[in-house]
Amino acid sequence: MNILILGSGGRESTFAWKISQSPLCKNLFIAPGNAGTGAYGKNVSLKVTDFEGIAEFVLKNDVNLILVGPEEPLVKGIHDYFLAHEELKSIPIIGPKKDGAQLEGSKDFSKVFMEKYGIPTAASHTFTLETLREGLTYLKHHPMPVVLKADGLAAGKGVLICTTLVEAQEELRLMLAESKFGEASEKVVIEEFLTGIELSVFVLTDGKDYLILPSAKDYKRIGEGDTGLNTGGMGSVSPVPFADDTFLKKVEEQVVIPTIKGLQKEGIHYKGFIFIGLMNTNGTPNVIEYNCRMGDPETESVLPRIENDFVELLKAVADEKLKDHTLKISSKVAATVMLVSAGYPGNYIKGKGVSGLENVKESLVFHAGTDLENGMIKTNGGRVLAVTTLQDDLFSALQQATADAGRVYYDGATFRKDIGFDLL
Ligand code: AMP
Ligand code: GLY
Repeated sequence: MNILILGSGGRESTFAWKISQSPLCKNLFIAPGNAGTGAYGKNVSLKVTDFEGIAEFVLKNDVNLILVGPEEPLVKGIHDYFLAHEELKSIPIIGPKKDGAQLEGSKDFSKVFMEKYGIPTAASHTFTLETLREGLTYLKHHPMPVVLKADGLAAGKGVLICTTLVEAQEELRLMLAESKFGEASEKVVIEEFLTGIELSVFVLTDGKDYLILPSAKDYKRIGEGDTGLNTGGMGSVSPVPFADDTFLKKVEEQVVIPTIKGLQKEGIHYKGFIFIGLMNTNGTPNVIEYNCRMGDPETESVLPRIENDFVELLKAVADEKLKDHTLKISSKVAATVMLVSAGYPGNYIKGKGVSGLENVKESLVFHAGTDLENGMIKTNGGRVLAVTTLQDDLFSALQQATADAGRVYYDGATFRKDIGFDLL
């Protein structure tokens, strides 16, 4: 098979690493990829939202399967675009159509969906500019902290946790009346603040059946001890020690099954990954959010623990034969430490030369924001490299990944030295 992966981050590098190991994969393409993905396949200089360019490439190169990494092309309808063209519609896309991608693309849609199908989540109300006054009054009677969420995609910045009424009212006004997040904040979900500890659960579905992939925990804040600004993710661990069988059974029964059945009842034929962001509140799962894709940097910890031929699984999704497959999961523990640019998630400088990769012997290094310049690896983003290791126990995994992150060098290389240590 010829396979095309869309995306350029650590998640897509991990997909490429895994897919390249399959005897079913003949040619692998990554669009646009990064300095690392070229080791697993051929990078193609195309934007993930350039549907016409992608279609042309796919036809020319006889691509038989497309795996979509990030949410943007899914929310913008790449799957629908392929289905709408006679010569493209038989090429399977792993990733939902626009209707399914709303689980991530519209917080209001996902809240209505969860309420309709009895899926545990924080109580909420949605407001628009027309109902701004009601929203301001609603906040007056709401306990603090309170969570405000822009309905649409806002580059990971659309969720605000407000601790005072004054702040919450001002932010609601900015979002609805001053388009703080553009179109994304035309609707705002006001939500109850949940306490507990977060984890991510991943489901692969062919629209009929599903497999639950290993769970993971990611570390979002830039600073050690979970302090400072939110980032795309500074590291991850899989499995999650506090997500025991009893808890995961609850997640399957209360969240996964009603989600799959709900999608079917809505007439949404969903093929792809569902990433469920959960809060574990004293052993009770509550859904914080859905995403229509895999997580990053969770994929870097989850995928290396899956022992199946990954292409077989993707093909089973395309052929709606997932029920014939079971997962083989390694009992090892995976830890990922992300190396980022100095200044990230604020302003940072790109183009720094990367060295020391050859010193990493016990971990995998998945490239994220990197680029090749005259054969030299240069930094090209906020999150630069993901260092992942698999070990027999959590402590060894954390130590190894952290030590190996320190073996890579570029000017301003920054990483958290405490990823996962809170779980010991
Ligand atoms: P997102 O940008 O959608 O990934 O959300 C950012 C983060 O906000 C989540 O990972 C949670 O840590 C936090 N969050 C979102 N909703 C809630 C909630 N209802 N209660 C507490 N924290 C929340
Ligand atoms: N690590 C969180 C995300 O991928 O959204």
